Amino acid sequence: MSTRRTRTIVAALATVLLAGSMAACGNSDTGGGDGGGDGKIVLGFSQVGAESGWRTANTTSIKDAAVEAGIELKFDDAQQKQENQIKAIRNFIQQKVDVIAFSPVVESGWDTVLKEAKDAGIPVILTDRAVDSADKTLYKTFLGSDFVKEGRLAGEWLVEQTKTAAGPVNIVELQGTTGSAPANDRKEGFAAAIAANPNLKIVASQSGDFKRADGKQVMEQFLKANPDIDVLFAHNDDMGLGALEAITAAGKVPGKDITIITIDAVKDGMQALADGKFNFIAECSPLLGPQLMELVKKVEAGEEVPARIETEETTFTQEQAREALPNRKY
Ligand code: AHR
Repeated sequence: MSTRRTRTIVAALATVLLAGSMAACGNSDTGGGDGGGDGKIVLGFSQVGAESGWRTANTTSIKDAAVEAGIELKFDDAQQKQENQIKAIRNFIQQKVDVIAFSPVVESGWDTVLKEAKDAGIPVILTDRAVDSADKTLYKTFLGSDFVKEGRLAGEWLVEQTKTAAGPVNIVELQGTTGSAPANDRKEGFAAAIAANPNLKIVASQSGDFKRADGKQVMEQFLKANPDIDVLFAHNDDMGLGALEAITAAGKVPGKDITIITIDAVKDGMQALADGKFNFIAECSPLLGPQLMELVKKVEAGEEVPARIETEETTFTQEQAREALPNRKY
């Protein structure tokens, strides 16, 4: 039985019990409750924020896909704050949306609110970022990337490029948002890939919160503290793009004096790669909207869905970026 129908029955029983002298309930919050006013599925979506080009493309993909699929979307921007996401999810529960989806800003601390959604009979879909809840029944599925693999691909490329290097290779790392799945996993994957090469040394590693301005500021500090940086590994394009400014201002040539490896492959990042300022990008696709809407329809109908659905992704060298850029959608 679909979750909407289950909740309709529960709601109907409650109405009968409460009916008495009250007129039929008139809470007419459009789209709230069991389907939109016009019978559409109602999806409550809590987005992380607007911290990067990737995030902007992801938001566009979700909004466009909802329109395309005929799903009513209640969209909330959490401005990179977990408390805002928890508040948004509670609002969605109160509004009795049919399905909740969200991209969790950090991995931990979701069990209570996810249990509230489960108790209300509202299925939850995780998109883009995972949670570390031990109870996997708190959500229906996860749709997104293998972040460990992205970090590993970045590290493997570096190992290949430096296999004839004489002497140490000094690496600085710009991490994503502290406690977020992509920051944790990309760090882990990269570290594992370079582990067998003691000449590859991470000499500094700090969060730039996935933002361009923070990437610039942290890179300035790295450059002051470490005169001999050979490689920058940035957990996303935006931080890498911010770091470019700091590197240039320090009188160094990005892509030559300092090898730059990033993750995402959004247009600005691909342009920097094509221009020779970046050296390698591991792709992370933000175009999750259409798959998410398919999943929303399925979980709303009570259908089984795979526990984890991973996006197909690739990597880009400078040459490949030049080829791919003209057809890049985001
Ligand atoms: O969760 C995906 C990451 O979040 C992207 O790599 C980054 O750009 C974004 O902010």
